[in-house]
Amino acid sequence: MTMPPCTLTPDIAVMACVAQAILMTAHASDFQGSTHLMPFDEDVIGYGKTPGTNAISSLKARIDSGAVRLSRDPAGSLLPAILRELHVPVASQVLAFSKTSFQRERIGPANPRALYFSDTVYVGHVPGSPILEFTAVDAFLGAVFYTLDESAPQRPTFVRTDQCTECHASARTMGVPGHLVRSLEADESGAVDLLTAVDPVNHRTPLADRWGGWYVTGQHGDQTHRGNLMGREAFALQKTRPNHSGNVTNLSRWIEPSKYPVPTSDIVALMVLEHQQHGQNFITRLGYEARLQLAAYGHVQHLRPQIDAFVRYVLFSDEAPLTAPIAGSPDFRKAFESCGPRDKKGRSLRQLDLRQRLFAHPCSFLLQGEPFAALPQPLRQRILERIGAALDSHDPASSACHIPPAERAVLREILVDTVPGFPVPRARAGGA
Ligand code: HEC
Repeated sequence: MTMPPCTLTPDIAVMACVAQAILMTAHASDFQGSTHLMPFDEDVIGYGKTPGTNAISSLKARIDSGAVRLSRDPAGSLLPAILRELHVPVASQVLAFSKTSFQRERIGPANPRALYFSDTVYVGHVPGSPILEFTAVDAFLGAVFYTLDESAPQRPTFVRTDQCTECHASARTMGVPGHLVRSLEADESGAVDLLTAVDPVNHRTPLADRWGGWYVTGQHGDQTHRGNLMGREAFALQKTRPNHSGNVTNLSRWIEPSKYPVPTSDIVALMVLEHQQHGQNFITRLGYEARLQLAAYGHVQHLRPQIDAFVRYVLFSDEAPLTAPIAGSPDFRKAFESCGPRDKKGRSLRQLDLRQRLFAHPCSFLLQGEPFAALPQPLRQRILERIGAALDSHDPASSACHIPPAERAVLREILVDTVPGFPVPRARAGGA
């Protein structure tokens, strides 16, 4: 039976699309079975033995050659200089107080771990610890892990360490060395209750399930979330007084803000981070799969279900809708929106919406980054063709059926102008 076209009767089309989205969301968590651990240390990928080519390896080379000297701030920390060299905005700061990572004994509600990020690198810092942590977004290897010991008597340097894959390569990272973001209920000491875990967290996760174990600053109206809550009493109170710890702009009732370069754990930075991390893991997974399949069969035909799942992800098909406006740090917004390419009319995939959804144009800016550009060509081309086909489709099962026709036309224009190789619609290709 053929489905009614999306455009004929908008109400029915949207209802069909929503029903389809619910169906797909049920399957979305298994990513078509793509969560088993990939053989990333074997020959085709050779994760451990391949040198990194990423933001940290290049900064390390510039330090080693003497081209860059990192200077300490008055407190002796290298963090501000490193963030500057890596072009990571301090306003991207987000604070996790759950004891979930490898320096967990130092982390707690009074001493959360700070993370800073750009598209190409993540930086972790626990106040009081000399060890800075880094995950670089490597176009070929996925996440590559480094530490830097600020207390080293000689010139501190980045050290690559693959031990981090103990946690950073599992079903939670789609089976590849990748990025992690979790949401769990923590007690007053930051110890977590694993039974409450929601992961992976990304733009599909309802706000109500997000940010357990994180501080959250910013406005979100009457939408609830698990941020800023620690201990049974706080969670119990949330049931009768929703948002008793929500819509917070000042964290000084929990932390000493002067320990951090900015006093925020920005809600919008968290939302971008969640979309970005999972998307980057997805790109790594697809790249690994494609390289293995090209080596074995010479084609990527078997990847069609994974490609379709990825297209749904980048088109935000199953995004959790916002029911009230979100407002975060103007500095983060400015830093984030000002990067990246623009189309001929000045539009960008990084423009935020924050009223009904995260982005103004619902297609991921990750399509413009180096890891996507570096995917094996047959895979990359197939993904772009599937996105083009979805934007042209009237099928209510299409990955783009949640996007009204006028917005699809805008998206297509932005993609043609800013993503090399994006298929040009026929009218435009003919010079219209
Ligand atoms: C015990 C498990 C565990 C180990 C081991 C671990 N991490 Fe993580 N890491 C996490 C979790 C969980 C998160 C998500 C944020 C949070 O809960 O703090 C995370 C997040 C991060 C982030 C934020 C961005 C991203 O890529 O997820 C960085 C940077 C990071 N870890 C670096 C490292 C480095 C470097 C090592 C090894 C030296 C390491 N981690 C080892 C659990 C771990």
